[in-house]
Amino acid sequence: MTFLKRTHTCGELRLSENEKTVVLNGWVNKRRDLGGVIFLDLRDRFGITQVVINPENVSSDFYEKAKTIRSEFVIAVCGKVGKRPEIGKNTEMLTREIEVYAEQLEILSVAEVTPFEISNCENVSEELKLKYRYLELRTQKLKENLVLRSEYYSIVRNYFNSLSFVEVETPILMKSTPEGARDFLVPSRIHHGKFYALPQSPQTYKQLLMIGGIDKYFQIVKCFRDEDLRADRQPEFSQVDVEMSFVEEIDLQNLTEGLMNELFKVFRKKELELPLQRITYKEAMRRFGSDKPDLRFGMELIEITQFVKNSDFEVFKNAETVTGFCVKGGEIFSRKKLDELTDYAKKFKAKGLAYIKIGEEIVSPIKKYLSEEVLENILSSFDAQKGDLILLVADKESVAQTCSGALRLKVAKDLNLIDESKDSIFWVVEFPLLEFSEEENRYVACHHPFTAPLSEDVFLMETSPEKVRARAYDLVWNGNEVAGGSIRIHQNDVQRKLFDLIGLTEEEAREKFGFFLDALKFGTPPHGGIAFGLDRQVALFCGVEQIRDVIAFPKTVSASSLMDGSPSTVTEEQLGLLGLELKQKTT
Ligand code: AMO
Ligand code: AMP
Repeated sequence: MTFLKRTHTCGELRLSENEKTVVLNGWVNKRRDLGGVIFLDLRDRFGITQVVINPENVSSDFYEKAKTIRSEFVIAVCGKVGKRPEIGKNTEMLTREIEVYAEQLEILSVAEVTPFEISNCENVSEELKLKYRYLELRTQKLKENLVLRSEYYSIVRNYFNSLSFVEVETPILMKSTPEGARDFLVPSRIHHGKFYALPQSPQTYKQLLMIGGIDKYFQIVKCFRDEDLRADRQPEFSQVDVEMSFVEEIDLQNLTEGLMNELFKVFRKKELELPLQRITYKEAMRRFGSDKPDLRFGMELIEITQFVKNSDFEVFKNAETVTGFCVKGGEIFSRKKLDELTDYAKKFKAKGLAYIKIGEEIVSPIKKYLSEEVLENILSSFDAQKGDLILLVADKESVAQTCSGALRLKVAKDLNLIDESKDSIFWVVEFPLLEFSEEENRYVACHHPFTAPLSEDVFLMETSPEKVRARAYDLVWNGNEVAGGSIRIHQNDVQRKLFDLIGLTEEEAREKFGFFLDALKFGTPPHGGIAFGLDRQVALFCGVEQIRDVIAFPKTVSASSLMDGSPSTVTEEQLGLLGLELKQKTT
């Protein structure tokens, strides 16, 4: 044997193994010297076991060797299991009932002093931890997250396999298509001047699989999007991607609910009340100012446009929409707090934020513009009582709603109104098919340009495209969009019409999606699908806010990997092979 190989893991031993001779392998989590006796906490993926080295029971050579051991050394220990005299001192340890009295010791690998202490790295900077991610992976929390992620994969695979889905891998090098986020590009060595793109999702491929008769497809797949990052966004992330033939919305929704229920049973120890609630996009925006609202608290938005139409306040009088919400007990908000909320609203394009404090008197910068009657109407719309605060935003509908929605969420977080023990999970349906992009001066698809319009709205495609509703659905869980999908267009002429609406000329459509338009001509089943944001769901099941806590090797917000230093420069020779030259030399 090349080394003393473990008989048990460091999380396995209990009193039932008392008196047994065992071998453990692992990292030294901590070393303590107590009056000559050395205590080593030995750690592996499964737990921690206390090892005792008593100078009275071991040879002096052995003892001297033990004294050289430091944190993060990898060692093998052979010894006898004994009952621990002070049980319960470390109640978190699975092996707290026992300890192992070392009889043989082997140092398998020494370790330099690590840049941070593995057993105590809560307050260490994110940068340092990401640089040494492999050390951070030794922490219990990250390990548990990855184990849960792995269980998630297996539940997903079992679920789809049991329903006769086929797992198919789709290409990672594909054609660049301009819709959606920005593509990551890969230059071709063989075809200078030509590029592959990394898939933002396997959307076209999974539809082609339906045309190819695969019928029920799923894949756990990496997707790549070159977009600005946030806590819930990574440039490469994973989806559980699904597509089915001969289906309607309800089939995909039932399928998704079934899987979510399996996941909830295992990770949340509860079942979901099915079917899940549906709310339309329009209602979500009107009542909560968000297409992924958190329903674990109230503070619904109330629109008061009609009451202030005839007031003397120009801003309110002329606004398309005046909406807001009432904060129970918010009258105590200070000037500073209100300024902070105003600044926050401005980030969401609000031009201002009006407040009405209901104290002994009514205090509001807009009071002078409002008649008794108008004020009375506003207060009663919100059912406002003494001690409350009303916050209002006036703007065009989308801005007024989005700002109020963002403020609603911020105030709820600031006041701790969200009951974290609850789950709010439901569908948002009937999204708009298109939205007008001021930047690009054209319509863009809200979901993606393969999403079918609701049949009763098709006639609006010619006259008011922005009013057409899509056969799209998002699954929202505790204020996060955790899955999204749609029924697809399966007729070539409707697909061309949609490309037309988003401003693709016939030639452009042919150049970019010709292969796909052709495929639609050869017999396409009605089909639809959905994709789950795997990282987001796993993060929610793990109870962490950042998806990077459930990804083994994540990127920072500036899309770099601090550990291996990617992205990095490449040699002139490598560029030459690809037929590329940098405009500006990087150093
Ligand atoms: P969509 O773009 O809505 O749909 O993506 C599906 C789900 O993926 C998650 N997600 C992300 N997670 C982490 N980082 C990101 N940058 C990121 N972007 C999206 C979200 C989202 O709900 N092909 C369609 C699906 C379909 O129509 O079937 C698609 O990709 O949780
Ligand atoms: P005045 O200083 O008299 O013009 O007061 C205007 C008040 O209305 C200030 O508190 C502003 O923040 C607020 N206000 C201005 N524009 C808006 C808007 N678009 N929506 C809501 N409140 C606004």
